[in-house]
Amino acid sequence: MRISLRQLSVFLSVARHQSYTRAAEELNLTQPAVFTQVKQLEESLGVPLLDRIGKRMQPTEAGRVVVEGARETLDAVGRMEMRLADMRGLREGRLTLAIVSTAQYFLPRLLGQFCDANPGIEVALTVTNRQAVLARLAAGEDDLCILGTPPEGLDVVAAAIADNPLVIIARPDHPLASETEIPPERVAEEAFILRERGSGTRLAVERFFRARGLTLPVRMELGSNEAIKQAVIGGLGLAALSRDTLALEGAVGIVRVLDVAGFPLLRQWQAAYPRGKHLSVAAEAFLDHLAAHARDAVRDSGRVLPGRTGAAMAGSEGPLRET
Ligand code: PGA
Repeated sequence: MRISLRQLSVFLSVARHQSYTRAAEELNLTQPAVFTQVKQLEESLGVPLLDRIGKRMQPTEAGRVVVEGARETLDAVGRMEMRLADMRGLREGRLTLAIVSTAQYFLPRLLGQFCDANPGIEVALTVTNRQAVLARLAAGEDDLCILGTPPEGLDVVAAAIADNPLVIIARPDHPLASETEIPPERVAEEAFILRERGSGTRLAVERFFRARGLTLPVRMELGSNEAIKQAVIGGLGLAALSRDTLALEGAVGIVRVLDVAGFPLLRQWQAAYPRGKHLSVAAEAFLDHLAAHARDAVRDSGRVLPGRTGAAMAGSEGPLRET
């Protein structure tokens, strides 16, 4: 019996669409080419595989057996190819990452070190807000996603990789800038500049104030951390941002971090991927790189970042806490 993987995958496509024409469209082939592949498969196996019922091509009983066998065969070949790609892994791998926009202040540096050490790895990085990263995580579009709070209701594995404290900032000449232990109630009297809906930063800060029965008076919504800093410098109000975003401004005193009771909100950056996803060698190596960085960062503090967990994700969009 001489059957080819090509014939099996063409037959699977016809069986799935119940149409030679649609299979041809999917496979970028002509309709006669698809027909010929299926015909040759039928001849090799010695049984008819498809019945024409009205306009649909439906698998015969033998055809259903072949559908099952073809799926198993093609899956096994796919797994074999992935293992071989893994063996080549770090020499010629590809790493796709989706990160929330605020992570752009720390992740590219770690990525740079990783790429220096592994020059064969090609990286595709998508930077967007939390809501969009969650959608990509749910669809399994990337090797790894980096976000500020573990998602709720998604079956994923996550690892804390770095601290992500959230602070409230003001212009240095703001009346609250020289006060200490400022109550959240006092802060909630000030005009606020918030990130756009769907942002993890916004979610965290709104949740903090809502838990205390407070609503922030929103003067403006902006879709970028940099624009928010400029608005604060421009005197438009207070804002809550990840401390990572202030590496430069904090140092030169353009904005002031306020001493608000309950702040900084202690959060941690998470690297996450769908449970059950086969991580490529490149993705595993990058996770190891992030974990090593996390260990270095906490060594002096004596704290221990939790390892990779699945359970930690469930319900973790509840009250903010240090994990
Ligand atoms: P964001 O996420 O960039 O969508 O605000 C950051 C975070 O969750 O800390």
